Amino acid sequence: MFNGKSIFISGGTGSFGRNFIRRLLEQYQPKRVVVFSRDELKQYEMQQTFNAPCMRYFLGDVRDAERLRQAMRGIDYVVHAAALKQVPAAEYNPTECIRTNVNGAENIIAAAIDNGVKKVVALSTDKAASPINLYGATKLLSDKLFVAANNIAGDQNTRFSVVRYGNVAGSRGSVVPFFSKLIAEGATELPITDERMTRFWITLDHGVQFVLDSFARMHGGEVFVPKIPSIRIVDLAQGMAEHLPHRNVGIRPGEKLHELMVPLDDARMTLEFADHYTIQPSIRFTSIDVDFAVDKLGEQGRPVSEDFEYRSDTNPHYLSVGQIADLHAKLSA
Ligand SMILES: NC(=O)c1ccc[n+]([C@@H]2O[C@H](COP(=O)([O-])OP(=O)(O)OC[C@H]3O[C@@H](n4cnc5c(N)ncnc54)[C@H](OP(=O)(O)O)[C@@H]3O)[C@@H](O)[C@H]2O)c1
Repeated sequence: MFNGKSIFISGGTGSFGRNFIRRLLEQYQPKRVVVFSRDELKQYEMQQTFNAPCMRYFLGDVRDAERLRQAMRGIDYVVHAAALKQVPAAEYNPTECIRTNVNGAENIIAAAIDNGVKKVVALSTDKAASPINLYGATKLLSDKLFVAANNIAGDQNTRFSVVRYGNVAGSRGSVVPFFSKLIAEGATELPITDERMTRFWITLDHGVQFVLDSFARMHGGEVFVPKIPSIRIVDLAQGMAEHLPHRNVGIRPGEKLHELMVPLDDARMTLEFADHYTIQPSIRFTSIDVDFAVDKLGEQGRPVSEDFEYRSDTNPHYLSVGQIADLHAKLSA
């Protein structure tokens, strides 16, 4: 579906963006791939590797509606990956996070509609489900904006959906590079926030494939949630450094003990498919009248039970210490 098409990726220089673009160039022959982000150095470095003739690099800020409108001219598909995503930084600088994650989402929507973009997929996080920190709250607002945008697209027919997933193994600023650094520096113990803590766990490759699949599946208005494993944080520490003891340092402000992807209150809107859940929009659209139980690929979903929750602690699928160690070895190779 991306052959001969123009694709715009906000946050294209980030962990997700680079991997997504690599896959796009390997699997398709796009007409144009637009990377949109602020830092010229990250773009310069990316250009050294990603230099196919279809690549375009646009400096810009998602807070700047006019710049986005220019950059999206002639674009068919948009992936919105730009975000501020560090929980402590968002707690300390709430208005900055709101400007990027919420006002930025509004600007992406307006630019996509004005330019007649066909489909937009916005990346979200498990922290947006029943959020307790500012980052998660801004991503929930962003999710709501993208779902509701299907109602304001009017004749343009632009369709918007959301992909929500959990911690990406090894992504920038996450616990894996933090532990790796401590281990490389010869740490004698690893800090653990809480021994009971669990997290959803997804590889970047899986996240990228899931976003590509979501473009093909979407009617517009869905929140797509992949079925992914959980990890216990103690198992992660053991999988990365079997010999090191752990030191409890306590849960940080804005952190949950366990993460959530589908809250109980969304169960009545949720459909289970073979490899994912789809949370249907709770608002009615004037322009989309479809049965979300059958997606655009013809895949069939069925309603989950009323007491369904998709939580990292009750998830039946956990990675073992051995599987974490294997995954870590593969990712660091
Ligand atoms: N990593 C995870 O564990 C994880 C888990 C679940 C969901 N997600 C979601 O996945 C998405 C991508 O995450 P990632 O891991 O790829 O993040 P990342 O590596 O931190 O990349 C963020 C990207 O956004 C750009 N950016 C930040 N602020 C911007 C702004 N105001 N205007 C334009 N570009 C801006 C950054 O470049 P500049 O700084 O140069 O602008 C960078 O290209 C985010 O929406 C995040 O919430 C991530």
